[in-house]
Amino acid sequence: MRKVLITGGAGYKGVKIAKLLLEHDFHVTVLDNFMYGPDPLVHLLEFDKFEAVKADIRNNIEGIHAYDAIIHLAGISGYPACEANPHSAQLINVDATRNLVQALAKDQLLIYASTTSFYGKSGECCDESSQVEPVSMYGITKFQAEQIIMERENSIGLRFATVFGASPKMRMDLMINDFTYKACKEGMVVLFDSYAKRTFIHVDDAAECYLFALKNCDRMKGGLFNAGGDALNYSKLEIAEAIKKYLDFKIIDSDIKDRDVRHFIISFDKITGMGFTPKKSVEDGVEELLRLYKFYDPHSHFRVI
Ligand SMILES: NC(=O)c1ccc[n+]([C@@H]2O[C@H](COP(=O)([O-])OP(=O)(O)OC[C@H]3O[C@@H](n4cnc5c(N)ncnc54)[C@H](O)[C@@H]3O)[C@@H](O)[C@H]2O)c1
Repeated sequence: MRKVLITGGAGYKGVKIAKLLLEHDFHVTVLDNFMYGPDPLVHLLEFDKFEAVKADIRNNIEGIHAYDAIIHLAGISGYPACEANPHSAQLINVDATRNLVQALAKDQLLIYASTTSFYGKSGECCDESSQVEPVSMYGITKFQAEQIIMERENSIGLRFATVFGASPKMRMDLMINDFTYKACKEGMVVLFDSYAKRTFIHVDDAAECYLFALKNCDRMKGGLFNAGGDALNYSKLEIAEAIKKYLDFKIIDSDIKDRDVRHFIISFDKITGMGFTPKKSVEDGVEELLRLYKFYDPHSHFRVI
């Protein structure tokens, strides 16, 4: 499994995964349509085994057979982007995933960036066998794509917790990144459904999890795994309180309901049993983000390289 293609590899998670795999001596090719530009990849040029291709997975996957493994990240990511672009979400997240699956040879490993987002709002503890209840365009399209991917034997589905932390390509719609920004720049965080529980993972641990799946593919293929750690199940209020350890700001508990209703506790027993546990805490991420926001405003047009 030495030659790896990362679709959507110029994004928030992809850049971090690409760097980690290159540091472990994999050949890494990023395929991305550069929706957010190619700048976050520039620092990877120091690795001889790195290559990037500007292409759209909807219509340009011809060279796909050259790779031992494909990490499939390309898509419209997150609740706000999918609500704003439902047609693209269907075409890219679902239809392009189906085309990709049909184009692959049986011996090519496919690792899919799935999500815990579709576990719904029951507040109960969910494992991989729990009933899913997608409540948004994002959740619906990600679940459909996961089903397509898991129909083939040589696939691994990683249902990721919500990622946080600094990356060369930031995502500011992610809860911890967003709350920390608002606490630091606006002096207040407004909480909708402050009791609602979510689950989180640092972007470096998310990258480690893909590396873990590549290295343990013989044991993991055919399987779905919640990707995160039991210590990282937090309510929105608990996240705000964790940020409060580092700076003073106002927490406003609003009566308005969140349109992105999600409330669950996730069990990570399955992936923990395989030997994967995230190392970084919410506090590690908040500290890092506060250092980032001191000198860089991700809401501006510039990117960190
Ligand atoms: N970040 C999270 O919290 C999280 C959690 C669970 C799952 N995921 C999944 O992980 C994947 C990556 O997430 P991210 O946070 O890095 O998102 P991102 O939006 O930062 O990255 C997505 C990348 O896909 C590329 N892309 C979009 N459409 C494309 C197309 N048609 N052809 C080629 N490239 C295309 C974009 O240019 C971008 O670089 C997504 O599939 C997302 O659903 C993310």
